[in-house]
Amino acid sequence: MTKIFQSVQEWIEFRKSIGGKTLGFVPTMGALHEGHLTLMRRSMAENDCTAVSIFVNPTQFNDPNDLTHYPRTPKEDLELLESIGVQYLISPEITDLYPDDYRYQVSEKVESNVLCGAHRPGHFDGVLTIVLKLLNLTQASHAYFGEKDFQQLRLIEGMAKAFFIPTKIVACPTLREQDGLAMSSRNRRLTPEHREIAPGFQKTLKGASTTEDAIRKLKEQGFEVDYIEDRWGRRLGAVRLGQVRLIDNV
Ligand code: PAJ
Repeated sequence: MTKIFQSVQEWIEFRKSIGGKTLGFVPTMGALHEGHLTLMRRSMAENDCTAVSIFVNPTQFNDPNDLTHYPRTPKEDLELLESIGVQYLISPEITDLYPDDYRYQVSEKVESNVLCGAHRPGHFDGVLTIVLKLLNLTQASHAYFGEKDFQQLRLIEGMAKAFFIPTKIVACPTLREQDGLAMSSRNRRLTPEHREIAPGFQKTLKGASTTEDAIRKLKEQGFEVDYIEDRWGRRLGAVRLGQVRLIDNV
């Protein structure tokens, strides 16, 4: 049975009973899929116990429309957690996690303003702030993050180093559908037509000779392109199909 904590205070009290056992932590925004589950399975294999958080963090949504339409599937999420044997689910209310009403925030000045940060002002400050809160709350030995969100992963690694956070940040490879589309909670919002086009994103990132070439090829296939950039030894990109924004890197 997965033990559910809807109150921060209840979790803080319970955390004391875990004591010196190793605790793995996987933060998520729910609408769980196999990509999330690989992080959880790894945490369960590498730690005595595992906590997952589900919290759709409003401060990282720069677009109110995106926040409103973010998929929420609490019943299915809990079934998935139970089915793989995750011990603890932390899923507090907004006011519980933001008693300060977001007066205090973590802000990074260099890498959070490029790529996704250039297109989503304030996004990474929201991500870093909530991750710092959750790492402080969970006091986890290890926390697991996906390479699918590569810029996010780099920024979290940087924050952990900068603030001497004792939790080890563990990077996990991107899990993909058979056709190469990176698994994402947002995929379920794609129309059938857009779902057919979507695997072209990764294929083009991989196959194009230059970023300009990739942008041209993606537009030909019907994608709107936010950015495609080579950086950090990778090619990263964000595209839109209708209302749905997809990110990937290879
Ligand atoms: P969310 O998009 O729910 O993702 C939770 C974690 O799962 C992130 O570390 C993400 O990189 C990882 N993940 C998502 N899809 C994946 C895939 N296909 N393969 C491998 N890992 C994948 O990222 C967030 O939530 C939020 O920004 C959060 C860190 C929870 C802060 O609110």
